[in-house]
Amino acid sequence: MSTIHEILALGPVMPVIVIDDSRQAVPLAEALLHGGLKTIEITLRTPAALDSIRAVAAACPDITIGAGTVINADLASAARNAGAAFAVSPGTTPAVIEVCRMAGLPLLPGASSVSEMMALQEAGFDAVKFFPANAAGGTGFIKSLISPLPGISVCPTGGITAATAPDWLALANVPCVGGSWVAPQADIAGGEFDAIAARAKTAAAL
Ligand code: 3PG
Repeated sequence: MSTIHEILALGPVMPVIVIDDSRQAVPLAEALLHGGLKTIEITLRTPAALDSIRAVAAACPDITIGAGTVINADLASAARNAGAAFAVSPGTTPAVIEVCRMAGLPLLPGASSVSEMMALQEAGFDAVKFFPANAAGGTGFIKSLISPLPGISVCPTGGITAATAPDWLALANVPCVGGSWVAPQADIAGGEFDAIAARAKTAAAL
């Protein structure tokens, strides 16, 4: 089992996926791998999400699968049972932390304030998802944390694009960014896997 730090070190960009048809999941994961990305966050926002995680876990051992949008304890359990290697939450509740710990499922917990990050540090976390990254303060906010919270690594997501990702990745406390721009929902549904692989390649080189 990898730690969250090891997972965030797998590459500069973690694609955030919203998928409508689990049959698209393996070709999608293969396109991302082809482009050089080794992690994927499949959000639990569609009925196809858990089957998609199951399919990728079975077919693509080289990609590390996160379950995203884990907003309650039931989703954390479901993510684990489907074969996710880690969980990502947009915010954090004690129940989500507890179930992930009990299940041995590494959690990238969401936070959008200094106090939330301090509370997560007290709870034993040293990496957080900063969501919604642009709306909650942008790069200036995260840059301001480097001095007072040197022990926290941040994976920002929410509104990040190919054009703005380098600004985030230039920050010392940002090992990785997340975003849907690499594999937008419509491109997945339309089977545009060559375009996704090309964007993954650009993203992997950031
Ligand atoms: C997330 O869940 O992290 C965000 O929905 C991704 O945001 P984006 O679609 O703006 O990249």
